[in-house]
Amino acid sequence: MIDMHTNLVELWKSMEKQVDAGLVKSIGVSNFNEEQIKRVINNSRIKPANVQVEMHVQFQQKSLREFCQKHGITICAYAPFASPGRNEFYSKLGLKPPVVIPDLFQHPVIVKIADKHKKSSAQILIKYLTELGVSVIPKSVSSERIRSNFQIFDFTLSPVDIAQLQELDLGEMGFTFEFSSFFKGMDKHPENPFPHRAPKN
Ligand SMILES: NC(=O)c1ccc[n+]([C@@H]2O[C@H](COP(=O)([O-])OP(=O)(O)OC[C@H]3O[C@@H](n4cnc5c(N)ncnc54)[C@H](OP(=O)(O)O)[C@@H]3O)[C@@H](O)[C@H]2O)c1
Repeated sequence: MIDMHTNLVELWKSMEKQVDAGLVKSIGVSNFNEEQIKRVINNSRIKPANVQVEMHVQFQQKSLREFCQKHGITICAYAPFASPGRNEFYSKLGLKPPVVIPDLFQHPVIVKIADKHKKSSAQILIKYLTELGVSVIPKSVSSERIRSNFQIFDFTLSPVDIAQLQELDLGEMGFTFEFSSFFKGMDKHPENPFPHRAPKN
């Protein structure tokens, strides 16, 4: 069931009360667009400490990054590999993903940069996001991959690498977290944060 009357400002005020009560230190938001964050900031005592959003090389969130920098809000990039495990997830349910989920590990530009640095594609994808000044939360169930996903502090991306990675940004067309096939009616919600960002599969 979807609550079509969500009041983000009221929700935020309840979260501020958790800070006042000493139950949490910092509060933030996820999957909010700039207008929604602005509305929260304009109606709050405590501004969001962090915004967690989808971000990867094909969806670099330039405008949101600039907005957050201006307001002193940090960003956490979720799905830094564009969450490729969803392909198998949808297929097990006998469904087609609602949008195309790219295979960033095999992207020729990323493979070329990875080979040059003797690193994995995953490491290049994570490293690039850290260069953009955001924190990154790649997920893996493999301890080996988790360890290797941390090995990004022993090399430097060159200005040419960075320029090539910057070029891979598709802007809003890079968005992949379209959930309306699961949460029926979500796309009609007045607070649907990304109503124009869902290129259908
Ligand atoms: N706030 C939100 O709305 C939201 C939405 C989505 C996700 N998230 C959070 O963001 C984090 C990551 O999201 P995600 O798991 O959807 O996407 P992701 O980190 O982009 O992708 C994870 C996938 O990449 C694979 N992988 C990880 N490291 C790899 C490597 N070194 N080489 C090859 N494949 C590798 C994983 O497989 P294995 O596990 O088999 O290694 C898994 O299939 C999670 O903590 C999640 O909770 C938040």
